[in-house]
Amino acid sequence: MPFPQTRLRRLRATRVLRGLVRETTLKPSDFVFPLFVAHGVDRREPIAAMPGIDHLSIDHAVQEAGEAAAMNIPAVLLFGLPATKDTEGSGAWDDEGVVQLATRAIKDAHPELIVITDLCLCEYTSHGHCGALRPDGSVDNDATLDLLAKTAISQAHAGADIIAPSDMMDGRVRAIRQALDDEDFTDKPILAYSAKFASAFYGPFREAADSAPAFGDRRGYQMDPANGNEAVREAKLDIEEGADIVMVKPALPYLDLIRRIKDETGMPLAAYNVSGEYVMIKAAAQAGLLDERQAVLEALTGIRRAGADIIITYHAKDAAGWLQ
Ligand code: PBG
Repeated sequence: MPFPQTRLRRLRATRVLRGLVRETTLKPSDFVFPLFVAHGVDRREPIAAMPGIDHLSIDHAVQEAGEAAAMNIPAVLLFGLPATKDTEGSGAWDDEGVVQLATRAIKDAHPELIVITDLCLCEYTSHGHCGALRPDGSVDNDATLDLLAKTAISQAHAGADIIAPSDMMDGRVRAIRQALDDEDFTDKPILAYSAKFASAFYGPFREAADSAPAFGDRRGYQMDPANGNEAVREAKLDIEEGADIVMVKPALPYLDLIRRIKDETGMPLAAYNVSGEYVMIKAAAQAGLLDERQAVLEALTGIRRAGADIIITYHAKDAAGWLQ
């Protein structure tokens, strides 16, 4: 029955009525909070490119993780800034590396908080690429797989609850699954950055993680933003190789792919609301151009409505506070 019998405004009349028919929920338990961990003691330094986000020494990372846990955020995602870098990225699989030490410290202090470790070499290589280089400067896929597998084992030994490869090498989920299983980590889940696009929205992160490539770009391994069918293929291949959770990254320019991958695979799905998406809202809010709270909650709700179960976001603590 059309108008005038049908009037959709009837159910919009009050806040309580709107709540009764709301289709999508947004809760602190949907969030993962990323942390940038650096060496040193008692250090907390603002990241200029990401207002509100700091470089944290391990003691501060433990404190920050505890605050997130107290707000019912179930997980943190760790990125490390090593003291030194080399061409191989050997800091990634150093058992005393910054992420390994932070993982142990956070798990000791907050055993129930889930620690997810980002698994990539770009923060650890002097050239800033996500894998081993061939003489011509291209990234050698197959030579990188062993390094990633070694890193996964080191992270698992440190106590990481979930291993999250973000490098975009072909076959890495299989290599990591195999290595974990060989070491009896058969119960360690893999959260695969499955559809990770070569995006301008990682700009602030590369300053935060000091991981900008020294030459060239990541288009030889990260996906072309124009490709949707290929993103679905990436997710399906990762599932075949053993991924437990798949990811779409960035989130807001790729909501169609969150929906498609969710519908086509039915897998638990994470979306990464990346650094550039974060600073767009932050900068606009700081300039007085939009309401931060409403904009953040709307953006995160949109990501959930598109089909994401999990949202990795730098807004996690703010949003959790607003949602309490
Ligand atoms: C590492 C990695 C990146 C991000 C997460 N893991 C950067 C990149 O691929 O260049 C980006 C996260 C963000 O922008 O918030 N490969």
